[in-house]
Amino acid sequence: MDPVRNPFAPGAGQRPPELAGRDRELDAFEIVLERVARGRPERSLVLTGLRGVGKTVLLGELRSMAVRAGWGAGKIEARPDADLRRPLSAALHRAIRDLAVRHPDGERVAEVLGVLKAFALRSAPADAKLRDRWQPGIDVPVRTGKADSGDIEIDLVELFTEVATLAADLETGVAILIDEMQDLRPDDVSALCAACHELSQSRSPLVVVGAGLPHLPAVLSASKSYSERLFRYARIGQLDRADADFALLAPAEREDATFDVDALDTLYERSGGYPYFVQAYGKAAWDAAPRTPISAADVKMAAPEAEAELAVGFFGSRFERATPAEREYLRAMAELTDGRDEPVGTSGIAEHLERRASSLSPARDSLLKKGLVFSAQRGQIAFTVPHFGRYLLAQA
Ligand SMILES: Nc1ncnc2c1ncn2[C@@H]1O[C@H](COP(=O)(O)OP(=O)(O)O)[C@@H](O)[C@H]1O
Ligand SMILES: [Mg+2]
Repeated sequence: MDPVRNPFAPGAGQRPPELAGRDRELDAFEIVLERVARGRPERSLVLTGLRGVGKTVLLGELRSMAVRAGWGAGKIEARPDADLRRPLSAALHRAIRDLAVRHPDGERVAEVLGVLKAFALRSAPADAKLRDRWQPGIDVPVRTGKADSGDIEIDLVELFTEVATLAADLETGVAILIDEMQDLRPDDVSALCAACHELSQSRSPLVVVGAGLPHLPAVLSASKSYSERLFRYARIGQLDRADADFALLAPAEREDATFDVDALDTLYERSGGYPYFVQAYGKAAWDAAPRTPISAADVKMAAPEAEAELAVGFFGSRFERATPAEREYLRAMAELTDGRDEPVGTSGIAEHLERRASSLSPARDSLLKKGLVFSAQRGQIAFTVPHFGRYLLAQA
């Protein structure tokens, strides 16, 4: 069928034509927005799940909800080893601009922007040469004395408090959305938790909404034991059959096309309900089908195309980031799980490779750091990418 009208959207962060099966999370966030804006105590949301389940797009949707509710909102993507100040400054700048258009007191807005600027300028060492200094692009005079101590924990509390008062003036709130939250540096994680704790105690209308890999709750509670009281963890994963069908049917029907029941059976078998795969197979099936309704035969014909796309865009791009030693480790994981998405014991991997466990630690640590594997439990390791083991076995 006409590829131009193909509605499906496989790809990291690509907004799906239909955000299926996420009503629970959307409803929960609606309540967070209402309660926090009214100064009621409420835990914020942290989304966790494997790669490709739709965390980024859901986080984007939560952001849109906040903006529609009149909140100021800004989003960042954490990166390993990167400083939090710069991206956070940019996100808060965005959020303040959202609020500034409605705020009656321009002076006050400029004050808060000035504090934000002081916070941002702290990201360069004070003695950095002028050309190495980062220009945050905030067009007001800097206001020193708040949020610029250099101690990130103190600075975040002061900065968040300032920004939250702007929102409180408007009886609204501020949402900071952090994607790939597991990649924040430990001191930044702990400062963020501390600041959220402080602000929730003073009922300031500012929330941090996170998204990350399944071990993110463990990262947060290792940092601050009270993090469980700050966040509600929402694990997102595969769509059930009805939601996966809806994710395919609703967009197709808007283009006057549909799928046979047999086609939907085959699609669910292939995708396992993983949103990324739903989009990839849906897209290929659309292109392969000569006419509507799309049949099971069309899906089968399209499967190699979808798999080739996934091999490059979803699996291959990750596998390529692994060194030979890391690849050996990943293959051992795949062999031991026989391609199922299950955790394996690290000692079992050493045995399988006939190596001492300590000699494998560097490979394991760097795979953890690259976000290809995660450890939900001590001594256990699993792929962050669904069907990765199956992909590796098919390669061999
Ligand atoms: N609820 C959903 N329904 C249908 N497709 C979805 C849904 N959530 C995500 N997708 C699709 O899945 C893919 C991966 O989404 P993304 O947000 O990048 O996942 P993650 O951030 O968890 O790796 C994208 O192609 C997106 O369009
Ligand atoms: Mg993502």
